[in-house]
Amino acid sequence: MIRMQQVSKTFDHGQTFAVQEVNLEVADGETLVLLGTSGCGKTTTLKMINRLVEPSSGIIEVDGRNVMDCPLQKLRRNIGYAFQGVGLFPHFTVGENITIGLRLDGRPKKERLARAREMLALVALEEEFIDRYPHQLSGGQQQRVGVARALAGAPKNLLMDEPFGALDAITRDTLQKEYLKLQRELNKTVIFVTHDIIEALTVADRIAVMHAGRIEQVGSKTEILQQPATDFVRHLFAKPAEQLRDYWEAMHE
Ligand SMILES: Nc1ncnc2c1ncn2[C@@H]1O[C@H](COP(=O)(O)OP(=O)(O)OP(=O)(O)O)[C@@H](O)[C@H]1O
Ligand SMILES: [Mg+2]
Repeated sequence: MIRMQQVSKTFDHGQTFAVQEVNLEVADGETLVLLGTSGCGKTTTLKMINRLVEPSSGIIEVDGRNVMDCPLQKLRRNIGYAFQGVGLFPHFTVGENITIGLRLDGRPKKERLARAREMLALVALEEEFIDRYPHQLSGGQQQRVGVARALAGAPKNLLMDEPFGALDAITRDTLQKEYLKLQRELNKTVIFVTHDIIEALTVADRIAVMHAGRIEQVGSKTEILQQPATDFVRHLFAKPAEQLRDYWEAMHE
């Protein structure tokens, strides 16, 4: 479980709020989508959970433990992180990228190799990719490797920052469906960041709508669509009706 209580983050000596009084609770096995436009504070929120960014105030707990009291390595072992913009190491092979965490943990090479193979299969990439370098992969394949890396340490919790961003609509659609299948199997506790409404509706158990550093509404898809709590939420979902109709049809197929 991930819980944030009154969490804020200011930059520039308290002049600007990137995140303001955020309260969130993500239950075990749940995918909570953090949805909002560019610059609203999504990445900063994720980074505070695994302490890439230190909160200015508030409390964050992962599996009942205050993250500030948890040794960094232990904390991060329990939280897989798929970075915005992939962030693969260009001079490492795919296999090395996937198992970098295991290497830092001093796991033997044989185990790392086996794990890399297992993870490639999990994200539906061929085994031959293991010795390639990131630049020899397409954007979508790189993003799969990013997800494989986040999953490699078998973390209970997963932070995914626009993991399928910057892809064409068809590839995105495929990856979203694969994500759903994978999540049914793995049952991780996930915060999934996106600015794409259809993606949010596709992968979410619940959605948290973020705007200008604040959470405007947290709720089920039906709640958010049928009872928007603020004008911002209402306008955000006043998308072309056709797009939403496709979504409902796909949901009820
Ligand atoms: N290190 C920093 N120093 C100063 N301001 C920052 C820093 N990091 C982020 N910000 C600001 O905090 C706000 C939130 O940034 P954040 O990266 O969390 O947004 P985001 O919702 O992830 O946006 P995007 O969808 O574009 O990735 C932005 O206004 C950004 O400029
Ligand atoms: Mg971001």
